[in-house]
Parts: sequence; C-alpha cells; structure tokens
Amino acid sequence: PNRICVAIDGPAGAGKSTVAKLVARKLGLLYIDTGAMYRAVTLKALKQGLNLHEAGGLTNLARETTIKLVPGLQQSVLLDGEDVTEEIRSPEVTRHVSTVASVPGVREVLVERQRQMAYENGVVMDGRDIGTVVLPRANAKFFLTASAEERARRRAKELEDKGYTVDIDKLIKEIQDRDYTDSHRSVSPLVPAGDAIIIDSSGMNIEEVVDTIISWIEKNK
Ligand code: C5P
Repeated sequence: PNRICVAIDGPAGAGKSTVAKLVARKLGLLYIDTGAMYRAVTLKALKQGLNLHEAGGLTNLARETTIKLVPGLQQSVLLDGEDVTEEIRSPEVTRHVSTVASVPGVREVLVERQRQMAYENGVVMDGRDIGTVVLPRANAKFFLTASAEERARRRAKELEDKGYTVDIDKLIKEIQDRDYTDSHRSVSPLVPAGDAIIIDSSGMNIEEVVDTIISWIEKNK
C-alpha cells in the first residue's frame, strides 16, 4: 500500500481542504480533515450546553465522542453515528471552535486518533499542527496561506453559495481573530514546521496550488 504522508497546514480559509482533497485523489491517498474533528467536538459541546471554558468537561466529552470521517467526494462527518457534515460548518460552530481547540486535553485525544489514521493509511491530512505535532515525520509538509482579505472573500463565497448572508468586514475580523487565537495558544500554535514548503496562494487558483504541491512531491520522492 501507498503509505506516503502529506501534511497541509495553514490559517482559516487558505483553501487547504479543497487543495488537500484534490492532492489526495491524484496520489490515491486518504484525505483527513482534522478541522472537522475539532468542529464535531465543538458542535456536541454546544448542543449539550457545556461551559466552553471548562477544560475537564471538554476533554471528557472528546474522549467519549466517536467521529467518523467517511471518505469520498463529499467527505461526510459522522458524530456518534449522526451525519453532521453541514452542521459543523455553521457560523456558530466556527465562532467557538478555536476556544475548544485550545484545550490541551481535547487536542491530546484528537491527535492520538489522527496519528492512528495516518499509521493505517497513506494520507493527506490538513489542519494547523499536522507538520509540527501530529505527523512530524511526514514525507512532505506544506504551509498554505493567503491574505486575510482574500481568505475572507473565499469564505464569503462559500457561505453565500450555502444561502447565508454575509458581512465581509465582519468575516475579515472573524478570520483575523481566529488566526490570532490559533497562532497564540500555548499548545500546538499555528506555525509553519521548519521543513515546510510555504505557499502563498493569493492570486493563485486551486489548480496552480495543487500542481505546485504534486510536482514538489514527485521531484522529492
Ligand atoms: O480547518 P478548519 O477551519 O475547519 O478548522 C477549524 C478550527 O479547528 C481552527 O480554527 C482551529 O482552531 C482548529 N484546528 C486545530 N488544529 C487542527 C485543525 C483545526 O486547532 N489540526
């Protein structure tokens, strides 16, 4: 089996999941969206009305939760067996996910599961700490970024396509806030791995980013 591991990290809205999915398909690897796992735990915590500043409760919740990422074009997400693919992308979950993701116990539980998935399959995994913490020995690491304005514009389009009305300035502010929280937390902050290839996708289209990644991997393997 093809056991190559590719890590794709970067801030919110840089196009990681779209790019990672296409790279995985081209290389015949399994795509794993780690953000979806933090989102699923956040959704469950909100539904249960848990205090999001209570680390112990959130850690127990993560431990007791089963999250299944179903491979395929749609990549559906099952939370304790229930399909929450759409629900985990809601603005409410998006607003609270960084708080939940900053809890060390929650990270420990999810990182362990992510490593297990990569151990069993060749993967393209996207997130914030894949190259630095989850898979430090990945065969290839990429850090995908773009300006906050460009990322907000892309998010706005995604949300509008789903029928949400968006305030672009508010979206830029939310993206900047999420970047700040993700980059300044004490555990596994968002930072490029020392050996990551940094790709600024502002002004690049998806195909160009995918081609850059594939040709780097082919040249270096
Ligand atoms: O990638 P996505 O935007 O869905 O991630 C949602 C949030 O989950 C991020 O803003 C971050 O707080 C958290 N996350 C993380 N570590 C990862 C993936 C996501 O902390 N590996």
